[in-house]
Amino acid sequence: MRGVTFQTLPLTVIALVLLLLFQQTHAQTVAKGDCATGVHAILARGSGQGNDLNVLVKLKQAILEQIPGSTVLGLPYGHGNSDKFEAVYNGALLLQRYIEDYVASCPDTKIALLGYSLGAVTMMDALCGTSSLLLEEVAAINPKYNTSIITAAAYGDETYVPLMPWNTGNCTLGLGIFPRLDPLSCEPFAASLHSYCDYGDDQCCFILPLDDNKAHHEYIEKYDQDVVDFIKKRLAE
Ligand SMILES: *[C@@H]1O[C@H](CO)[C@@H](O)[C@H](O)[C@H]1NC(C)=O
Ligand SMILES: *[C@@H]1O[C@H](CO)[C@@H](O)[C@H](O)[C@H]1NC(C)=O
Repeated sequence: MRGVTFQTLPLTVIALVLLLLFQQTHAQTVAKGDCATGVHAILARGSGQGNDLNVLVKLKQAILEQIPGSTVLGLPYGHGNSDKFEAVYNGALLLQRYIEDYVASCPDTKIALLGYSLGAVTMMDALCGTSSLLLEEVAAINPKYNTSIITAAAYGDETYVPLMPWNTGNCTLGLGIFPRLDPLSCEPFAASLHSYCDYGDDQCCFILPLDDNKAHHEYIEKYDQDVVDFIKKRLAE
């Protein structure tokens, strides 16, 4: 290898390597043979350091066990970022690109989305566009993707707004701390949306009753099976 240094590598090779690295980290291009025959699930975890699934690993396992031929991944967005606004902004754009690339590669595969807490805001903004005060503006994904996306479930969404037809938990009158001002922008995805928000979750169901935010941490146990059943039902339609 003597004489072959990084500097002497032709620029085109460097460019190619960078491009491949970029695609590996950022794209969802899939070879035809690798398209899911069950469902392709993209899960966006809540904020915190560590791997891209965290507690959503249980949902991943349930989907793989109960819906054969599925593929599941944790969205590699900046969930560990201390700037949550930036995490949501970049995460929503990343999720949009994952959906667009996956559909371009696998047009016949159905997609299931789930976001928990910060991940729920990310997923909802990716689908509906941003309409909360303080959050950085992301435009909604093209509504045509509502034929590929068959479920979009939110756990403890901070942009929660009461009385929406897709609300699924028991929080009938609370509000997220960054309420969505234009919730009807989610309409194209109405058939796929389930927003799980319970009383006792201070983040999606402000303001009553305060219960140490206990409910915000109970969605996995309480609703994972419901989410899998919803995916199965929508796949069969
Ligand atoms: C997709 O969105 C369009 C525009 O809102 C709507 O007319 C259509 O019914 C939706 N399709 C599905 C499958 O939800
Ligand atoms: C709503 O769900 C929470 C969390 O599971 C539970 O603690 C609470 O008792 C429920 N409240 C009602 C009114 O059903």
